[in-house]
Amino acid sequence: MAEVKYIIPHGHTITKENRQALKGHKSCILWYTGLSGSGKSTIANKVEEKMFDMGFHTYILDGDNVRMGLNKGLTFSDDDRKENIRRIGEVSKLFVDAGVIVGTAFISPFRSDREMARSIMQEGEFIEVFVNTPLDVCEQRDPKGLYKKARAGEIKFFTGIDSPYEAPEKPEIEILSAGRTVDDCADEVIAWLKEKNYIPAE
Ligand code: ADX
Repeated sequence: MAEVKYIIPHGHTITKENRQALKGHKSCILWYTGLSGSGKSTIANKVEEKMFDMGFHTYILDGDNVRMGLNKGLTFSDDDRKENIRRIGEVSKLFVDAGVIVGTAFISPFRSDREMARSIMQEGEFIEVFVNTPLDVCEQRDPKGLYKKARAGEIKFFTGIDSPYEAPEKPEIEILSAGRTVDDCADEVIAWLKEKNYIPAE
C-alpha cells in the first residue's frame, strides 16, 4: 500500500465549474439502480441518445461492460459487489469533475453502497434513478436467460433469487417501467433534469 501521507493532491487551474460553463450544462451522475432485466441499461442508453442529440456531453458506465474491463475479476459476492460500486462511484466522480453527465447502470443492490457513492459527491450531483420493475416482469423478460439459469441453480447469488435487492427509500426519480415504452421512461428522466435546471429547457 502506498503511503497516503506522502500523496499531496495537485490543485489544477481549470475547475469543474469552468468545464460546466463551457459545456452549457451541469454535470451529475444519473445512478440507475434496479434488478437485472429491469431496463436500467436500455433506459440509460435512450436518455443518452436524447441528450446527445441536444448537444450535451454524456457517458455511460454499464455493469456488464465495466465488469469486462476495470472490474474484471470481481465476483457477485457481497464484498465484491461493494468494491464494484465503490470503483464506479470514484470513476463517476471523475466524469462529473470533467463536466460530463454520466449514467451508471448497475444493479447496485445494497443501500449502504449506493449511499457511499452518494456521500463522495457534492449536494445535488448524485441522482438516484430507481428503475422499479417487479421481479416477475424481469424474470419474464429474462433477456439474457440468466433468471432461468439462476432458478436451475446454475448461477449462485443471483439478485432477486438468492441474493437480496434493497430498493431505494427516497430516489430522486422512480421509473415504473412495466407496460411503458423506453422512450416514455427516458422522457421522464429528461423532464426531471430540465425541471431541476441540470440542463437548459430549450
Ligand atoms: S452489481 O450487483 O455488482 O451492481 P452489476 O450491475 O455490476 O451487478 O452486474 C449485473 C449483471 O451481471 C446482470 O445484469 C447480469 O447480466 C450479470 N450477472 C451475472 N451473475 C449475476 C448475479 N449472480 N447476480 C446479478 N447479476 C449477475
